[in-house]
Amino acid sequence: VTAPAGRVALRRARGSDLDAIAALWRSLLALHAEFDPAFGVASDAVPARALAELVDDAGTAAWVAEAEAHVVGFCAARVEDAPRALAESRRAEITELFVAADARRSGLGRALVAAACEWARERGAARVEVRVAARNPSGQAFWRSLGFGAFVDVLDRRL
Ligand SMILES: CC(C)(COP(=O)(O)OP(=O)(O)OC[C@H]1O[C@@H](n2cnc3c(N)ncnc32)[C@H](O)[C@@H]1OP(=O)(O)O)[C@@H](O)C(=O)NCCC(=O)NCCS
Repeated sequence: VTAPAGRVALRRARGSDLDAIAALWRSLLALHAEFDPAFGVASDAVPARALAELVDDAGTAAWVAEAEAHVVGFCAARVEDAPRALAESRRAEITELFVAADARRSGLGRALVAAACEWARERGAARVEVRVAARNPSGQAFWRSLGFGAFVDVLDRRL
């Protein structure tokens, strides 16, 4: 994958990236906790196992953007079989995306998503979904600028 900006390299994540990814993942969780209390983070949240599966499992993959040996962004995706009742056979979901604040607006998010989409297409997916918080205006703007549009509204009600 071609890196969009100067000394930033994009590549598949490896096991040795998991600590760096975990730090970004915590920032992603903390940001979402600000958007909505339903995204509140458990005090004992342990990302290690979930992240290890991201790089090991055949149906999932993760990418990092690295600037001068620092991981400044990551993206994760998965492909899965569609429900049997649908004509569609395989579909993909981008499950996480985070770019460090000081590395934003230089095309890294776009490049990470392009890498994930290429990977998903190679695995037979003709469509990719993403869940984006209704109260995340920059996330909403970002995905729409990449051609993503409303598909299903997930509504919730506090009980
Ligand atoms: C959303 C996010 C991943 C975007 O990453 P990025 O590297 O800054 O994105 P890019 O530079 O590739 O931006 C591509 C295009 O998206 C749009 N965009 C990105 N950020 C935007 C913002 N804050 N407001 C409006 N449009 C935005 C622009 O059209 C931009 O193109 P331009 O810079 O040429 O105008 C990053 O802001 C981020 O990590 N945010 C916090 C976590 C988050 O919300 N993740 C998504 C959860 S679903």
